[in-house]
Amino acid sequence: MDIDWAEEWAAWRREVWTPPDFWDRATPRFYRSAKRRRVEVERFLDWLLGELGLGGGSSVLEVGAGAGAYAVPLAKRVSRVVAVEPSREMARYLRKYAEEEGVKVDVVEKRWEEVSLEEVGRHDLALAAHSILVENLRGAVEKLEEAARCVCVVLHVGVPGWAQLYRSLGVERPHRPWFTAFYNFLLQRGVYANVKIFERDVVREYPSVEEAAEDLGVEVERVVETLPRLGRRGDGGVVFKYKVKEAAVWWCRR
Ligand SMILES: C[S@@+](CC[C@H](N)C(=O)[O-])C[C@H]1O[C@@H](n2cnc3c(N)ncnc32)[C@H](O)[C@@H]1O
Repeated sequence: MDIDWAEEWAAWRREVWTPPDFWDRATPRFYRSAKRRRVEVERFLDWLLGELGLGGGSSVLEVGAGAGAYAVPLAKRVSRVVAVEPSREMARYLRKYAEEEGVKVDVVEKRWEEVSLEEVGRHDLALAAHSILVENLRGAVEKLEEAARCVCVVLHVGVPGWAQLYRSLGVERPHRPWFTAFYNFLLQRGVYANVKIFERDVVREYPSVEEAAEDLGVEVERVVETLPRLGRRGDGGVVFKYKVKEAAVWWCRR
């Protein structure tokens, strides 16, 4: 029996649906992480732009750009960056980060499903890192392919970092093999994409136990109980450290 991977994806998305204010609340953490990850992101961009042969004159579209972890360093390297980001807080912090770094990123505050190609224009590369959070996978990918000559999608491999974190707190959260599903979906469309697997260290830091509990949606006691196994900052904050594997999946139009 042939599995329809786009259908599987849609079903899983419905199961792990994120409430509309989720990304707004997560924004300060993403902003701190965007800065902390800078060296590692620069290394990723060295590799990606080199692989695709994209130089300073190129133009990049980023979908679900968050607080600018990729968009801001990209804007230092290419001539134009357009970022699609539906969360108002993420968009605000992305602009703030770009301003701090003295670069220009054009931000479109919409979901990828709502954006028209006229609004975002045509690009050399469309990048989406952990942001294909849509039910209609086929529509989203076709639009990425229309918007750019090359597409790169970054996905978790195996247990995502956030699920590992919940596990360390004794909470199981549903997650799915997004990477293999995505790759199977591409194969079903006749796209034989390239893949590179990366391992990276994640540091998730909170100023206090209370803020960690609130962000994670668990009881304060739950965080306190697990503190001996987690990192505790000298000033009362909490640090979670773990390793994740990610896949960069990329392909270009001939
Ligand atoms: C896990 S964060 C990743 C942020 C950034 N790409 C990074 O790697 O740091 C997911 C982002 O995708 C955005 N997002 C969620 N649904 C989206 C959609 N339908 N279209 C575009 N972006 C979306 C969220 O607002 C959030 O900023």
